[in-house]
Amino acid sequence: MCFTIYELALNSDIQDRLREEIITGIEENDGQLTYELLSEFKYLDMVINESLRKFPPAFFLTRVCRKDFQIPGTNMIIPKNTDINVNIYSIHRDPEYYPEPEVFDPERFTPENIKLRPPATFIPFGLGPRKCIVSGRFGIMQSKMGIAKLIQNFEFTPCEKTTVPIDFAPSGIFLEPKNKMWLNVKKYE
Ligand code: HEM
Repeated sequence: MCFTIYELALNSDIQDRLREEIITGIEENDGQLTYELLSEFKYLDMVINESLRKFPPAFFLTRVCRKDFQIPGTNMIIPKNTDINVNIYSIHRDPEYYPEPEVFDPERFTPENIKLRPPATFIPFGLGPRKCIVSGRFGIMQSKMGIAKLIQNFEFTPCEKTTVPIDFAPSGIFLEPKNKMWLNVKKYE
């Protein structure tokens, strides 16, 4: 949620389009922000996915190699029982799949554009039998509700203490800004 709000503050056109979707949707739903309505917010979905791409909160996966494995196209062998870290952050910023990876562009997550990439190029919740137990459901719903409420009621802009680009904390198992995150917040009238 924090990284999403940060990008919305830096990209006012995306913030405006998202607010339009949320406010119109709530008005047409008798003023209620319901679970069903949240599922209908397609642009919110695209914005959150782009945020999870650029800033995967859990930025690496851990696995253990179960048998000697030759990396295709190389002579390199990963021996059995080696601990492996799969770097989600780097996969999500690979320009082969995400041109200009530093640019925050929710259009990468239209249904048509998603189909252009191999599935394992977007893995914020991991993959396989050990993938996150909440995946696209509870975790995403929680974030959608929080962002929808914030964008419905507040406007976010950068302030003099906003760091661009974000300086990440050098240690820890989750991706987080080094010096907290500073933004201007104003009530949306
Ligand atoms: C945006 C929010 C979240 C993200 C990005 C996220 C991401 C991840 C990732 C990358 C993994 C490792 C998956 C793998 O190794 O393939 C994981 C595992 C896990 N997550 Fe999440 N997670 C989120 C929210 C949550 C929440 C809210 C819960 C619990 C209520 C949760 C519970 C778990 C559990 C129990 C595992 C271990 C699954 C296993 O090893 O079998 N996660 N998560």
